[in-house]
Amino acid sequence: MPAPTLLGSALTEAREQTDELFRLVRPDSLYERPIPERHGIVFYLGHLEAFDWNLIARYALDRPSFHPEFDRLFAFGIDPPPGQLPQDTPSDWPSLAEVERYNERTRAEIDEMLEDVPEQLLHVAVEHRLMHAETFAYILHNLAYERKLAPPVAAPAGGDPPEERFVAIPAGEASLGLQERDAFGWDNEFSGHSVQVPAFSIARNKVSNGEYLAFVREGGAVPFFWAERAGRWFYRGMFSEYPLPLDCPVYVTQAQAEEYARWRGMRLPSEAEFHRAASVAPAPDASADNFDFRHWDPVPVARGGDMPAQLTGNGWEWTSTVFAPFPGFQPFPFYRNYSEPFFDGQHYVLKGASPRTAACMARPSFRNWFRPQYPYIYATFRLVQD
Ligand SMILES: [Fe+2]
Repeated sequence: MPAPTLLGSALTEAREQTDELFRLVRPDSLYERPIPERHGIVFYLGHLEAFDWNLIARYALDRPSFHPEFDRLFAFGIDPPPGQLPQDTPSDWPSLAEVERYNERTRAEIDEMLEDVPEQLLHVAVEHRLMHAETFAYILHNLAYERKLAPPVAAPAGGDPPEERFVAIPAGEASLGLQERDAFGWDNEFSGHSVQVPAFSIARNKVSNGEYLAFVREGGAVPFFWAERAGRWFYRGMFSEYPLPLDCPVYVTQAQAEEYARWRGMRLPSEAEFHRAASVAPAPDASADNFDFRHWDPVPVARGGDMPAQLTGNGWEWTSTVFAPFPGFQPFPFYRNYSEPFFDGQHYVLKGASPRTAACMARPSFRNWFRPQYPYIYATFRLVQD
């Protein structure tokens, strides 16, 4: 385990990561709501500090609140069921100056307390913030281009996808979750355990835009990240649109991934099958596999090699597994709502990592989950045949 001072600098680095994201938004656009099912941008500006304050100052150290109203207002995000959108308007939210004052004071006070904070809670603060560095990126993805201050980003060259290949995975044990209580993981990563998995074959690569395009031409659902202009397909990237890169993975919903797999006479992997495939794959490498903030958008799928490629990086991978607790699950007492409300049969597990996933959360035990129709996330898939 890193010493608290290392975690303190991890928190500083995570703050830089999220500060950089807010700097990409034009100042006149901070009350926009790019995704109707989520709060507006101003919520996230206050949320990251309010979360740390509620966890560290209030829960861990029982310090008195200096702004209880903001502690509550910015405490939690939302995940409404389909069709039930939030109704608040920009005037319901405080001014930027007030939020910035709250944030500055929170950071200064938290920094004074760091030595007294249990390590587990510092890990939670760091990973919570880095998770938002990803979820806020996909929210910003949907902010109009003219409202963003884009860094220079090159579009992928775009070639044809490599030939589809499958890798045989023999029957065997998959180990899920974390075994040791001394490694940091979120509540849903415990308890670690093994399951037996029958033999199957899994695609070397994620399904590419080019492969999915054949499905769209036969009437398949159009991915949220695509746009058709005068008969040509474009990818709606983070900072610009560019011609659909056929050899990059396609971002889709779980429902679209399932439909495509059925159309091909195949299926999605289960969470346990993903772990089996990952156990034979080469070790993840952020620069080749595309995670840890290396790129904003996908890079081409791998060419060559006999093993499953880019299992960690270049887009989360949908599984067929409904998000549910592992045996022995206990919610964190300081964050009971992290996982438990989502064990409702309405969310599916994703594995791997996206271009905007921090390296610490690219660990094999990390579990992500979303509703099967939620279109905004950086989620890909690969095929399995029995
Ligand atoms: Fe949060």
